[in-house]
Amino acid sequence: MKIQMVDLTRQYHELKKEIDGAVTAVLESGQFILGQEVKSLEKDLAEYVGAKHAISCANGTDALQISLMALGVGPGDEVITTPFTFVSTAEVAALLGAKVVFADIMEHSFNIDPKEVRKKISRHTKAIVPVHLYGLPADMDELLEISSSAGIPIVEDAAQAFGAEYHGRKVCSIGKVGCVSFFPSKNLGAYGDAGMVFTDDDSLAEKIRAIAVHGSRRKYYHEYVGLNSRLDTLQAAILRVKSRHLDRYNQLRAGFAKAYTERLRDVVLTPEVPSDRKHIFHQYTIRTEGRDKLLEFLKSAGIPSAIYYPVPLHLQEAYGNLNYKQGDFPIAERLSTEVLSLPMHPHLKEEEVESIASRIREFYGRK
Ligand SMILES: Cc1ncc(COP(=O)(O)O)c(C=O)c1O
Repeated sequence: MKIQMVDLTRQYHELKKEIDGAVTAVLESGQFILGQEVKSLEKDLAEYVGAKHAISCANGTDALQISLMALGVGPGDEVITTPFTFVSTAEVAALLGAKVVFADIMEHSFNIDPKEVRKKISRHTKAIVPVHLYGLPADMDELLEISSSAGIPIVEDAAQAFGAEYHGRKVCSIGKVGCVSFFPSKNLGAYGDAGMVFTDDDSLAEKIRAIAVHGSRRKYYHEYVGLNSRLDTLQAAILRVKSRHLDRYNQLRAGFAKAYTERLRDVVLTPEVPSDRKHIFHQYTIRTEGRDKLLEFLKSAGIPSAIYYPVPLHLQEAYGNLNYKQGDFPIAERLSTEVLSLPMHPHLKEEEVESIASRIREFYGRK
C-alpha cells in the first residue's frame, strides 16, 4: 500500500466499530449542532488538559480569533507571534485590525525565541501568541515571565500540539488561553473542521463562549459582536471516540520518531526534544541544506514529504503592508529552506519507516 503523510483510512478501519456507533447515535438523536455530545467532549478535554473551562468552536482559526476578541484585541493593538507558522496565527490578529509583530524563532526548536519577544514588547502589545510548532511546546517559562512582568496575556496556539507537555503540564493549560485545532490530520482530528479554546479564567470563558455563538449568552440577545462558530454534534461524537486513543497514538508517533532519528541522525539534522517537555510529533521534521533535491528524490521513489512552511509569514504578499523584508528574521528564513517533514501518523508500519529512512540514506550515499 502506498505510504501517506497521514493515513486516516487506516485509522478509520481500526476505530470503525466505535466511530460508526457514535455517528449512528447522533443521527438517531436528531441533534446536530452543540448538544450533549459537545458538552461531554468539552468536559472530557478540559479534564485531559487540566484547564477549568473548554469551549468548543468551529475550527482552530476561530479558536484563535475568538480568544483575541475576548481579550479585546483590536485596531491600535499589537500581537506578537512567530513568522514560522501556519498563516492562521497571524491572520486572526490582522482580521481584527491589530498589527502583527513578528519575533524570530530558535533554530533547535523551530519555536518563538523569548529573547526576541522581549525586544518586541511595546505599550501597544495586547497579546503574545507562541505556537507549539510540529507538536513541541515553546519555551513557556521564559514567555510566562515576560507575560507576567509586562501584564500581557499569552494565547497558546496549540493547534499542532494537543497532548504535548511542558514541565509536566499539558499545553493549553499554561497561558491565559489555549487554542487547539481538530482539523482531520491533527493528532486528535475530527472528520471535518473543529476547534477548542481552554482557559482557567471564569469571566473570560463566559465571554469566549458568548462570542462563539454570535456574541450572545441568551438567544436573540447580543452582548458582543460575535461569530457563528458552533461545533457540530457529529464532530464532537467522533472526537470523543478518538480522544480515548490519543495518548496511545501519540506514543506510537514518538516511537516512529525515535526510529527515524536513530536511522537518520548521521545524515540530516533530526528533531531535538528537550528533556523538560513532551513532543507529540504532529510532524517529524528534518533539516538539510539539499532539501529540495531530497524532496524530489523521495517523490520519484513514491514517498511523500512536505514543507511546513516554504515562506515565512513576514515575506508573504498578504502581510506586505507590515513592511518586513528579507533578512528581518534570519532563522525563520533559513529554516524555511531547510525543513522537510516526513510521513508521520500512528498507523505507519515499522517497515515503512525503515524504507523511508533507507531511501534518505541512499540519497546521501550511505548504507
Ligand atoms: C499552527 C496552527 N495554527 C492554527 C491552525 C488553524 O486551525 P484550523 O485549520 O482548524 O482552522 C493550524 C491548522 O492548520 C495550525 O497548524
